[in-house]
Amino acid sequence: ASSFAALSLDPPLVLVCLDQGADCFPAFIAAERFVVNIVTPAHAKLAMRFATKGEDKFAHGSFESDEGGHPILPDAAAVIRCELEQAVPGGDHVILIGRVHDARIGSGKPVMWYRGDFLHLGQSVT
Ligand SMILES: Cc1cc2nc3c(=O)[nH]c(=O)nc-3n(C[C@H](O)[C@H](O)[C@H](O)COP(=O)(O)O)c2cc1C
Repeated sequence: ASSFAALSLDPPLVLVCLDQGADCFPAFIAAERFVVNIVTPAHAKLAMRFATKGEDKFAHGSFESDEGGHPILPDAAAVIRCELEQAVPGGDHVILIGRVHDARIGSGKPVMWYRGDFLHLGQSVT
């Protein structure tokens, strides 16, 4: 999902917009919790698999499970574990609002999606 964003500091909330037509939609709506894995350049193929309907997203064993069985990428740039706080309609998507349960930062740098490709983030501009 490229629609991930921070929403609130107090309480700590994030959001992600999910297509109501996605095959994963019923699972997310029914879930009490979800995980955001922020991907790095090393995850480009994995991310494209997640963006392809009909693909088995978990076929290649890159994930570990947390104590609740949620999929964690051990080498993610960041892992943010959330409780589903609210699901707000937004056109053909639904805005999933997650209350951040915990978060950890990895050593890898995140990638951006720009003009149909992954873009490596460069150096700080300050
Ligand atoms: C770069 C990129 C970003 C995407 N971001 C989102 C997003 O934020 N929300 C969403 O619902 N779909 C997004 N999509 C589309 C889904 O990845 C696509 O609908 C996928 O097939 C859903 O998988 P599923 O239907 O097998 O569950 C994105 C696709 C790409 C290539």
